[in-house]
Amino acid sequence: MQNIPFRLGWLVLPLVLLQLFFSEPQTSTLSVRVTRPTSVLHKNSSLSRADSTTKTWYKNSVIYTLDVEVFYDSDGDGIGDFRGLTQKLDYLKSLDIDAIWLAPFQPTPNKDDGYDISDFYGIDKRFGTFNDFSEFISEAKKRDIRILMDLVINHTSDEYSWFKASRKSKDSPYRDWYVWKSKQPANQNKGMVFPGVQKEIWTLDSLTNEYYLHRFYDFEPDLNAQNPEVVAEIEKIIKYWLKKGVAGFRLDAVPFYIEVPQTKGENFEHEYDKLVQMRNWVKEVRPDGVILGEANIEPKENMNYFGDKGQAMNMMFNFYVNQHLFYALASGEIKSLTKALEATKDIPQPVQWAQFLRNHDEVDLARLSNNQREKVYKEFGPDKNMQLYDRGIRRRIAPMLHNQKRLALAYSLLFSLPSTPVIRYGEEIGMGDDLTLKERESVRTPMQWINAPNAGFSTASKTVRPVISQGEYGYSHVNVKSQEKDPSSMLNWVRQLIHLRKSNPHIGQGDWKILASGSPNVLVMQYEWNGSGLVLIHNLDEETQKVELKAKDAGGDMLFDLISKKKNEANEKGLYQLTMPGYGYAWYRIGNESVLPNKQD
Ligand code: GLC
Repeated sequence: MQNIPFRLGWLVLPLVLLQLFFSEPQTSTLSVRVTRPTSVLHKNSSLSRADSTTKTWYKNSVIYTLDVEVFYDSDGDGIGDFRGLTQKLDYLKSLDIDAIWLAPFQPTPNKDDGYDISDFYGIDKRFGTFNDFSEFISEAKKRDIRILMDLVINHTSDEYSWFKASRKSKDSPYRDWYVWKSKQPANQNKGMVFPGVQKEIWTLDSLTNEYYLHRFYDFEPDLNAQNPEVVAEIEKIIKYWLKKGVAGFRLDAVPFYIEVPQTKGENFEHEYDKLVQMRNWVKEVRPDGVILGEANIEPKENMNYFGDKGQAMNMMFNFYVNQHLFYALASGEIKSLTKALEATKDIPQPVQWAQFLRNHDEVDLARLSNNQREKVYKEFGPDKNMQLYDRGIRRRIAPMLHNQKRLALAYSLLFSLPSTPVIRYGEEIGMGDDLTLKERESVRTPMQWINAPNAGFSTASKTVRPVISQGEYGYSHVNVKSQEKDPSSMLNWVRQLIHLRKSNPHIGQGDWKILASGSPNVLVMQYEWNGSGLVLIHNLDEETQKVELKAKDAGGDMLFDLISKKKNEANEKGLYQLTMPGYGYAWYRIGNESVLPNKQD
């Protein structure tokens, strides 16, 4: 469990805080309360349906990511499965998400939580059968939910039959499916992705006495993407799964897949054309199929990955903004976040950023300055045990922020950024982490459904990973069922945000700029879409801030508060003078509008 002493106070205090926060208006001017019943929230969601038929459906969508293994166990063996996931589709539909990104579910020795795949064409037996998978796909389709799957083709497990054959002899037909060197490479211990845990990137194999490349763990040998046979096999894998009904892929470890292996230095050359090639394979089977890339790159590299006309990856996670967002949350200052947003602004029209708060890995802070990183560590991961790989934090967002107001603000910010929001299972209820588990497993505990043994995840006596049962994030305090019933819960706040995001296509499809707020702590974003304007305000500081906005910059002299439904007029000098409470936020439409123009992008 968390590294906080377990005392009764810890059980009661957060509940009191939660109660206080959600029962009091946020501010006089910008009243933000989580009070609307769920039924009202979904009235407008036909907007997203209209969009969902286009090739750029992902621009006005919300993605939910989960790992079948820890979502819901239908047969009581302690491991989540496809049948269990299918049973929970109505819950996911009730959130009004548009797509699910599934963590790897293929057969695996499971030494890297399934990212070590031993058969690209199968389903891990622990999760059920192919029929269960197909049933899941068809039930999701009935509910208008697209399925994206992880595509892990940079490497395989060392137990994959291809690698076993490759290691056997230098003459094996599979030898060149992996990358072998007879001499010890000069960069043997440079450029490890998991420093501190992983010692080298080239490991000497005892069978043929040669070195094989592995950018990740030594049990994950890199496939040789320079070999046309391997590339042809990857095409086959992609088309195979698209034909099974998936709508696209979260492409794992993109920079490593497209790099040309070298024996010197850390930064290898990249072959960006491989991404266009892959996108074309997807389009051949499914014109609306997407590739969502995992590429933690510098902004100057963005166009290489998207393609100058958007012909490579459709979407990429914006890791750059993510790290600066954490700095902004830790420092209360918006300057570096503003810069990161501007630095990643210019992308081709058809593509889209995917924004997230947390994913299944550590919060990677490597692109911050040392001082900035130290600040984030100090605020959100002060103990060594909370940090990982000399660059990040292995915690969930709720315990990191450890303040319901700040958490609600962070979620609002996530949904307001120019991107497609990606939420991770359990985030919608504010789940915690388990720092007794190793490496990134701390943030991969089973979903908390109800206040009952194993949080209702499984009836087994032992679960695949321990369920969080103690302390303020234990399932008796944090679970779906109790939050369903409480209109002011985090779950219902996330539902409201999903509704706000999807009924304002300005955010995914419009133009945006950052307006001067007069405060170093308050981010004001202005969006324009089809003649309609939106102004979103977030105060990252714990103190109340005064904000002054020019009506002409905002785009009109009337602001309509989409949460409180109140109107706010500019004064005679053409200014909005607003008071933002600590961690306060507001979503405004310009003018008198609660209804949108009809035209779609
Ligand atoms: C990606 C995944 C991570 C995995 C690694 C190796 O970075 O996000 O979880 O360990 O690739 O596949």
